[in-house]
Amino acid sequence: MSIRVRLTLWYGTALAIILVIFAGIIYFVMAQALHDRVDAALQDAAQVAIRSLEDRFGPFLIFEDLSRDFPELALVDKFFQIFGPTGQVTIQSANIKSREIPLSQTAFQAALKGQATFESIRLRESIPFRLLSVPIRYRGRLVNILRVGTSLQPIEDTLHRLLLTLVIASPIAVIVSLLGGWFLAGRALCPVDAITLAAQRIATGDLTQRITAPTSSDEIGRLASTFNDMIARLETLFRQIRQFSADASHELRTPLTITKGETELALRRPRQVEDYRSVLESNLEEIDRMSRIVDELLFLSRADLGEIKLHWGPVQLDEVLAHIQQQVTVLGQDRGIQATLTDVTPTTVYGDELRLRELLLNLVDNAVKYSHPGDTIELSLNHMGAYARLQVIDHGIGIAPEEQPRIFDRFYRADAARAHANKGTGLGLAICKWIVEAHRGAIHVHSTLNAGSCFTVLLPLSSPS
Ligand SMILES: Nc1ncnc2c1ncn2[C@@H]1O[C@H](COP(=O)(O)OP(=O)(O)OP(=O)(O)O)[C@@H](O)[C@H]1O
Ligand SMILES: [Mg+2]
Repeated sequence: MSIRVRLTLWYGTALAIILVIFAGIIYFVMAQALHDRVDAALQDAAQVAIRSLEDRFGPFLIFEDLSRDFPELALVDKFFQIFGPTGQVTIQSANIKSREIPLSQTAFQAALKGQATFESIRLRESIPFRLLSVPIRYRGRLVNILRVGTSLQPIEDTLHRLLLTLVIASPIAVIVSLLGGWFLAGRALCPVDAITLAAQRIATGDLTQRITAPTSSDEIGRLASTFNDMIARLETLFRQIRQFSADASHELRTPLTITKGETELALRRPRQVEDYRSVLESNLEEIDRMSRIVDELLFLSRADLGEIKLHWGPVQLDEVLAHIQQQVTVLGQDRGIQATLTDVTPTTVYGDELRLRELLLNLVDNAVKYSHPGDTIELSLNHMGAYARLQVIDHGIGIAPEEQPRIFDRFYRADAARAHANKGTGLGLAICKWIVEAHRGAIHVHSTLNAGSCFTVLLPLSSPS
């Protein structure tokens, strides 16, 4: 059953119950008020009559005289009866003459005790009557019983009409509001259908789909925008994955092509031992490169899966940095590149020493690779708030501003970098970023094209609690 149907049904049921209760209360209050009014009118009439009779009570009352003297006694909608002290009719008004309404036993007994009685009766013609019997006493003795009565037919008619109106109007109200509810639920749920349709199209693989629901801040609007955000993220992710596999195969294909070409060429005709040797050496170089790529990819995918465990412990960063400085001497030997330590504060952080070395090695490897021959690389270590700040500064080719946000992406290499150093896969900084984030730190770059780059790494000084 659809939400729309369920909403409408719930709504209709609730409304029907409310209407029934409401109609019941109206009917009951109305009936009570009408009856009270009749009783009050009867009491008023009885009082007037008794006052008028005060001087003339007794068995010799003549109704015609009474009605002449007291015209209010002959009211059209009320009749009067005066009973003698034994309960027999003495006088009754003209409008009752045709009917026999004897005094009931209860009313007579109550009159003997001096109490007035209200009664409702229904005659043979099924006309309902309301009767009030009031005793008239003289010197402590019951002399007469005055009875005032009136037909309840007008009240019953009114109540009947009211009931009929309620019985007809309530279902109409329920039906109208069901239709309204159906319409409103449909309108409110319309964006949900749009979301479903969009989700179906997306499920077929089209991640460019978005929901075009009106951008409101209600539940549906939030659902639509959350959904759109999610699809946008998925789209980026899928694009990255596709890009990643394309890049990975491309990076692996180059060394494979070289190895294959050289091997085929060498096998084409018999050659000297030295020639084979040089081909094998070149192949080994390419194989090294391929295995490095595969190792790095494996590392990154294991990092993505959360399978890489860090071996936490205190790390003396200044010592690590001194060691890295020596490594730069080895790395930059061919091109006369040196590293200097400027401003080194003795610092201990909590982390995985091997990974932190790898991080710094990647950074200085880049600095050496993208420097000009004879350049100097500066390494520094100091404190910044709750963080240790490591900086690797070079005066090499620099990075264009539009490329800076992308250099931490896997396989991304700037064109200038490709031209400057053809070795490299573009995975080094991606690994650096992972290591820094695994240490709850941050890495960023500040660089000017053709002037040099500064890579800053922030690592928390406190140990994780
Ligand atoms: N110090 C630097 N100076 C200029 N450009 C740099 C520097 N460090 C990184 N880059 C740019 O960032 C890109 C990505 O660096 P990354 O270390 O990830 O890859 P790579 O050094 O090219 O290859 P490898 O996987 O061998 O490290 C580089 O190709 C280069 O364009
Ligand atoms: Mg690198």
